[in-house]
Amino acid sequence: MYRILRTEKLAEKIFLMEVEAPRVAKSCQPGEFIIVKMDDKGERIPLTICDYNREAGTVTIVFQIVGASTQRMAELKAGEAFQDFVGPLGQPSEFVKEDFQKVKARKYLFVAGGVGTAPVYPQVKWMREHGMDVDVIVGAKTKDLLILEEEMKAMAGNLYITTDDGSYGRKGMVTEVIRDLVENQGQRYDICVAIGPMIMMKFVCLLTKELGLPTIVSMNPVMVDGTGMCGACRLSVGGEVKFACVDGPEFDGHLVDFDEAMKRQQIYKTEEGRAMLRLAEGETHHGGCGHCS
Ligand code: NAD
Ligand code: FES
Repeated sequence: MYRILRTEKLAEKIFLMEVEAPRVAKSCQPGEFIIVKMDDKGERIPLTICDYNREAGTVTIVFQIVGASTQRMAELKAGEAFQDFVGPLGQPSEFVKEDFQKVKARKYLFVAGGVGTAPVYPQVKWMREHGMDVDVIVGAKTKDLLILEEEMKAMAGNLYITTDDGSYGRKGMVTEVIRDLVENQGQRYDICVAIGPMIMMKFVCLLTKELGLPTIVSMNPVMVDGTGMCGACRLSVGGEVKFACVDGPEFDGHLVDFDEAMKRQQIYKTEEGRAMLRLAEGETHHGGCGHCS
């Protein structure tokens, strides 16, 4: 069992939990994710890692209530426990594996949208811990939905906050800030990392393509097993079939077929939709998730 040490409501329907999981804390890296299960009957919920403390053996997760399982999860209190806390899963962010001198020579721009601020945080923290100043844009619908502002401020070189309704920071979407920084303020970046809702990542990528700025995105399609067996998290990247849970979750955003990914996300919700996907995707659908056959 994996004990919950602390819970905090960050915003409406958005919660943070610090969980005792020493094995995951010891080896996890920015970019990776975990899957939690509350009990025997519980759904497997994939969540990106927001923070970790190797000495204390704890991992911090942030989640949004999107259905019955996450609603139940939000009701858990400190002292209660998860039955399973599996991870770290997926591939770490590219910069963790690259030659550090190469990474250090680049100017990074991180773009976080809504709950996507949680997986951006450990990446920005890694940069700070390695002596790098990075620019960070955080976008939220409104002031009350902005999360981890103080934490991000402590780790970022420059932090730009934007809200869709102008209730805090700049008014507008993250894409408007990217354009302003590059076109009006003369900022030059070598790489952009964008994490948030798929629609945000799609529009960030359309803009950064236009600006000639390579962009990494973190994909969060439906996941079931998280180990590459079920085929639920299938994506097209550069015309090739990829599985977000084992090949990602991070990919070259300019190669991701976002329209297909968003359509698939919707279709996967119904039994009929899954049957259709099984038919259309043939052998590459896998079908081992138990939902399709
Ligand atoms: P949101 O809808 O509040 O959007 C956050 C910000 O993204 C907005 O403030 C805006 O600046 C930007 N944005 C949204 N649509 C845009 C567009 N069309 N063009 C340009 N910018 C746009 O975000 P939310 O409600 O927190 O998002 C929840 C979604 O994020 C869920 O679907 C969840 O699954 C997903 N999510 C993704 C990841 C990931 O790893 N990619 C992690 C956590 C959550
Ligand atoms: Fe990726 Fe099953 S969740 S293949």
